[in-house]
Amino acid sequence: MSVDLRGRSFLTLKDFTGEEIEYLVDLAKDLKEKKKKRIFEKNLLNKNVALIFEKPSTRTRCSFTVGAIDEGAHPEYLGKDDIQLGHKETVEDTARVLGRMFDGIEFRGFSQETVEKLAKYSGVPVWNGLTDEDHPTQVLADFLTIKEKFGRLKGINFVYVGDGRNNMANALMIGCAKMGLNFAIGAPESLFPEEKLVELCKGYAKESGSTITITSDVKEAVKNADVIYTDVWISMGEEDKKEERVALLKDYQVNDELMNSTGNADTIFMHCLPAVRGYEVTNEVIEGEKSVVFDEAENRMHTIKAVMVATLKD
Ligand code: CP
Ligand code: NVA
Repeated sequence: MSVDLRGRSFLTLKDFTGEEIEYLVDLAKDLKEKKKKRIFEKNLLNKNVALIFEKPSTRTRCSFTVGAIDEGAHPEYLGKDDIQLGHKETVEDTARVLGRMFDGIEFRGFSQETVEKLAKYSGVPVWNGLTDEDHPTQVLADFLTIKEKFGRLKGINFVYVGDGRNNMANALMIGCAKMGLNFAIGAPESLFPEEKLVELCKGYAKESGSTITITSDVKEAVKNADVIYTDVWISMGEEDKKEERVALLKDYQVNDELMNSTGNADTIFMHCLPAVRGYEVTNEVIEGEKSVVFDEAENRMHTIKAVMVATLKD
């Protein structure tokens, strides 16, 4: 295999080629099949990984924990009140100390700059478990799920509906553009993604042979969709924006009517979870037969394990 990611950090999919992203998805598929057969290769035996969480998490935390233990590594959870990161100690100093003790570091928090500094100063692979602007490990799980359902990524019509400028919208736009999925966002104009990021992704899309469409017309956005994806209207740290967001996004709910207006009988529904039923998605859709959200959630573990194995194995 020509792809070798040992020693690399995983901060954003911008840093990875299509071939490298595909390698991680396929490695996850392989690790998933092995786990179903109870085969554990212990690729990370005797390694220690630090899991820093400034924000809460169910899937990401459990994926890093279970993934590390399956591979023979020891995970250490460091919650926001457990360490001094950015409060009594600079991020640079914490990074240097953790880098002396741990073989890899996961970070979930607010600023993308923090995860970048951790990578720069720790000297060990650092993995982005979500920041305000990106959520790259989630996209790997989404791609594994799409490959399982459709057998391919390239040419899939992927439509994101809702808050078009949050971490998920950004990360999915980067990932889809790199991997050749046609990507559309249906969002109110005030929640369109940053123009600079759209331009960057249009460059990736040109290379991979796909398209990017940003529109406030949600019915237009979902035409011919293979995948309709949504995320919460109020992301972690934005709790004070609740009223404003509900007013802006109420016409962008994924409900049966929207799912049935794609002109494609096989459209699937995806969501990174956690979901707020009755806001971004109805109970009927998330519980319906087109929903693959729990396959997606399980795939977080297999893909996060793949990221740790690929970047940390000897
Ligand atoms: N999808 C996701 O990142 O879930 P958690 O917030 O539970 O980690
Ligand atoms: N946009 C959401 C994603 C949660 C996985 C948030 O940041 O809260």
